[in-house]
Amino acid sequence: MGRAAPRHCDRLRLLCLLREYRRIDTVDESLMKILFIGDVFGRPGRRVLRRYLGELKDQHDPELTVVNAENAAGGFGVTESVLDELLGDGEIDILTSGNHIWDKREALDLIQDEPRLLRPHNYPADSPGSGWRVATASNGIEVGVLNVMGTVFMHPTLDCPFRCVDEVLKKKPETLNVVLVDFHAEATSEKVAMGWYLDGRVSAVVGTHTHVPTADERVLPQGTAHISDVGMTGCYNSVIGVDTDIILRRFVDRMPERMEPATGPASICGVVIDIDELTGLSRAIERVRMDEQETGAT
Ligand code: FE2
Repeated sequence: MGRAAPRHCDRLRLLCLLREYRRIDTVDESLMKILFIGDVFGRPGRRVLRRYLGELKDQHDPELTVVNAENAAGGFGVTESVLDELLGDGEIDILTSGNHIWDKREALDLIQDEPRLLRPHNYPADSPGSGWRVATASNGIEVGVLNVMGTVFMHPTLDCPFRCVDEVLKKKPETLNVVLVDFHAEATSEKVAMGWYLDGRVSAVVGTHTHVPTADERVLPQGTAHISDVGMTGCYNSVIGVDTDIILRRFVDRMPERMEPATGPASICGVVIDIDELTGLSRAIERVRMDEQETGAT
């Protein structure tokens, strides 16, 4: 299954050749950044994204911006107007998703008309849309973005996410070095395992879905940046984005109740990944977060 990464000396030789070819003299000249923003939850998530995305981009100057949008429409999936809102100004290059992608029926058509919207790639192959897209970053480098979903505690009938990634990597062009994987999964163990499985083979594995940022971001030994979960973009005075009273009643009374997004100040959460565009390996990963003090105008 191609687990073995290139030997270190092979990689260094390749790096030297590439630097010579591209006339890149210093290490920093080959550095590019990807900004990844975690699950945007409902109207508060979209509001805080609008409010702070520009500021985050000004601070970090990423060449590519990827946002997980699976909860963007009221916490459940996406609609046409939400897609227009997120993609309309060109600030976001790719939208990833997860288990809620099909919650709105219109998503079945939307995902076929909008290639920048990804669904987990390990759904059956004939599902609408795709979980793999090659985007051109602002520095001209092609970046592969892959969205896959976990099977532990969430969707056991999906294809194996590990083998799914193997298949994509086997087929990708050899010249495509920079690859970001959004692993939308419930179990931390599965997310950590995916990081180790792909270490040295992709640029980054970022976890989404559980909506609580983890403090385990790091670059693994073979050069893959990893974090178990980047956290949600939405209201943290909530239960992972949903109104706290509703969730407490569901837990205590055990009665079904319609879930509604929480209201109030929200936070934007994500990571910035520094990647060597020549090798596709990462040098650093940093958590980023900005918190509203009040909701302000929507
Ligand atoms: Fe999810």
